[in-house]
Amino acid sequence: MDPIKNPFSPGAGSPPPELVGRDPILEEARVLLGRIKQGRPEKSMLLTGLRGVGKTVLLNEIERMAQSQGYRTVSIEAHEGKALGPLLATHLRKLLFDLDRMAGAGDKAKRGLAVLRSFISSLKVTVNDVSFGLDIEPERGSADSGDLEVDLPNLLVAIGEAAEDKSAAIAILIDEIQYFSPEELGAVIMAMHKIQQRQLPIVLLGAGLPILPRLAGESKSYAERLFSFPDIGALSAADAAKALQDPAAAVDVAFEREALEEIFRLTKGYPYFVQEWGYQSWNLAPASPITIGIVRGATAAVTPRLDKNFFRVRFDRLTPSEKKFLRAMAELGPGPHRTGDIAQSLNVKIESLGPTRANLIKKGMIYSPGHGELAFTVPLFDEFMKRAIP
Ligand SMILES: Nc1ncnc2c1ncn2[C@@H]1O[C@H](COP(=O)(O)OP(=O)(O)OP(=O)(O)O)[C@@H](O)[C@H]1O
Ligand SMILES: [Mg+2]
Repeated sequence: MDPIKNPFSPGAGSPPPELVGRDPILEEARVLLGRIKQGRPEKSMLLTGLRGVGKTVLLNEIERMAQSQGYRTVSIEAHEGKALGPLLATHLRKLLFDLDRMAGAGDKAKRGLAVLRSFISSLKVTVNDVSFGLDIEPERGSADSGDLEVDLPNLLVAIGEAAEDKSAAIAILIDEIQYFSPEELGAVIMAMHKIQQRQLPIVLLGAGLPILPRLAGESKSYAERLFSFPDIGALSAADAAKALQDPAAAVDVAFEREALEEIFRLTKGYPYFVQEWGYQSWNLAPASPITIGIVRGATAAVTPRLDKNFFRVRFDRLTPSEKKFLRAMAELGPGPHRTGDIAQSLNVKIESLGPTRANLIKKGMIYSPGHGELAFTVPLFDEFMKRAIP
């Protein structure tokens, strides 16, 4: 069928034609945003889930929701080895200038800019593109101690006060938040702690891999009282069918029931894979309805495509010993697996796995869902590993 009319949208952060199965989380976000705006306390949200489950898409949807509720939003994405301070500074500067221009008598936005300037002066790296009006002097001693766990809370409190001053509310959205260093994550948590104590109108909405609740808890034991960690998972069979059927039905195309069942069997309901199979099946089908035969034909195209892109980019970042480790895990099945079992199948002592295990966690390839257990962060990675290293 006409590929131009293909409604499916496989890709990182590509909005799906229909966002199915996420109503409870969107409702939780709506309540959170409404409460913070009214100065009522509520836990901020950190969405957690495996690769390709739709965290970025949800975060973007929540950002739109925040904007429609009148929030000013700041949206950033953490990267391996990129520091939080410079990443935030440029956005916060723009935000403060916006607040400063808003009607209202207060001068807290000007103070916010002065504190931000002091914050930037203490960053070890230079911040590109951040220039200030000549009239803004850094407020020495406010956020320039060089200790992020002191400076970031001071900065965000100054910004929260500026927002309160103008009856504005701010939503800070951070994707891939697990990539922050323990110090940075600790600083973010402490900042939100202070914001909550002062009931300032700032809300944090983050997304990251399932390792996030543990990282946050290890950093600050009170993190669980500050944040909720909604688990974003695979879609149920009914939701996966809806994700395929509804967008197709909107243009008078149908899926046969067996075709939907086959896609669910292959994708296990993981949203990114659902979009891939929907997309390829559509292109392959000569006309409606899309049959199981078409889906099987599409599978022959989808699997090598995933292997070359989605899986391959992660595989290529692995060292030989990491590959060996993951291949042994894959042999045991989708997981989670006990570390002891992995050691046994590699025929090595459990202690000797420590460094490789730590590196794989740092690279975001595996995480520990429970004590002594390991699982892949990429759905269906076990099947891929067996194809990549037969
Ligand atoms: N609720 C949903 N229903 C149907 N498709 C969805 C849903 N959520 C996301 N998708 C699709 O899944 C794919 C992956 O979404 P997204 O990039 O948001 O995932 P992610 O969890 O951020 O992945 P990663 O961890 O790799 O960043 C996209 O193609 C998107 O269209
Ligand atoms: Mg994402």
